Amino acid sequence: MDLGLTGKTALVVGGGRGIGRATVRLLAQEGAHVAVFSRTASEVDDAAAEVRAIGRKAFAASVDVLDRPKFHAAFDAAQSALGAPSVLVWCVAPFWKPTRLQHLPDEELDQLLATDLSAALVACRRALDGMLELQFGRLVLVGSLVSQVGIAGGTAYAAAKAGLEGAVRALSVDYARRGITANVVSPGFTASERLEQRLAGDPEQREKLVRHTTRRALVTPAEVAEAIVFLCSTRAAAITGTVLEVTAGAHLNTLW
Ligand SMILES: NC(=O)c1ccc[n+]([C@@H]2O[C@H](COP(=O)([O-])OP(=O)(O)OC[C@H]3O[C@@H](n4cnc5c(N)ncnc54)[C@H](OP(=O)(O)O)[C@@H]3O)[C@@H](O)[C@H]2O)c1
Repeated sequence: MDLGLTGKTALVVGGGRGIGRATVRLLAQEGAHVAVFSRTASEVDDAAAEVRAIGRKAFAASVDVLDRPKFHAAFDAAQSALGAPSVLVWCVAPFWKPTRLQHLPDEELDQLLATDLSAALVACRRALDGMLELQFGRLVLVGSLVSQVGIAGGTAYAAAKAGLEGAVRALSVDYARRGITANVVSPGFTASERLEQRLAGDPEQREKLVRHTTRRALVTPAEVAEAIVFLCSTRAAAITGTVLEVTAGAHLNTLW
């Protein structure tokens, strides 16, 4: 199936590793030129080198999405190098540790919402200008299953992810007639390097997460990337304002 991505420019924010990196790879394999943003320079450089090795153009920027002037400068530079992105994938993972709201300091609460919600909307706003000119755009924001199910100590993280879901519904109303769709991909526990490291010393917890899935195996970053890239494609023109869950059934299997 041709996804219609050949020659399109994509920006993956949070594309240095994990789900974002898998998405960068797949977008390039499907023919897109890809700009990659995240803080760790070696990781964005590696991701861009992989895109070039696949035969597409790439741009890498080491940038913290909380540093707005630097983010806007990186966006301008990516646009000069590759053209205006018609695909934006938001895949930033904010740092959070499970904390009940009563113990969550103001600064941590603000930082989490700023990283995972406000910065995502700023990126969408930046990308919309070019998309409106092109009369084509795909906004795909990575949410989380925690917006649907309660997670201990995850009030702020869940609120940010639920905010992304509300945002894509409104965006789809505002921009669908201009050829721009907006969707959330909502993963369950996904075996990214980060999660695997966390679970490495805790096989019991790993087994518990695996048992929650209906297929008895965690989701992989590549599987989440497949869903993201499909929503980025011309094939997904009629899908907007939705939440696509990629959970391996994790929330269906809680009773046994
Ligand atoms: N893995 C899971 O089980 C799971 C489950 C549900 C939802 N999700 C969601 O899936 C997305 C990707 O998660 P992942 O597991 O692939 O995480 P990951 O492997 O840690 O990757 C996250 C990416 O975000 C970048 N990032 C983090 N903070 C940033 C900042 N302030 N500015 C710029 N870049 C930043 C990281 O690079 P730097 O640190 O170098 O900046 C990295 O490239 C996130 O939205 C996460 O909430 C993950």
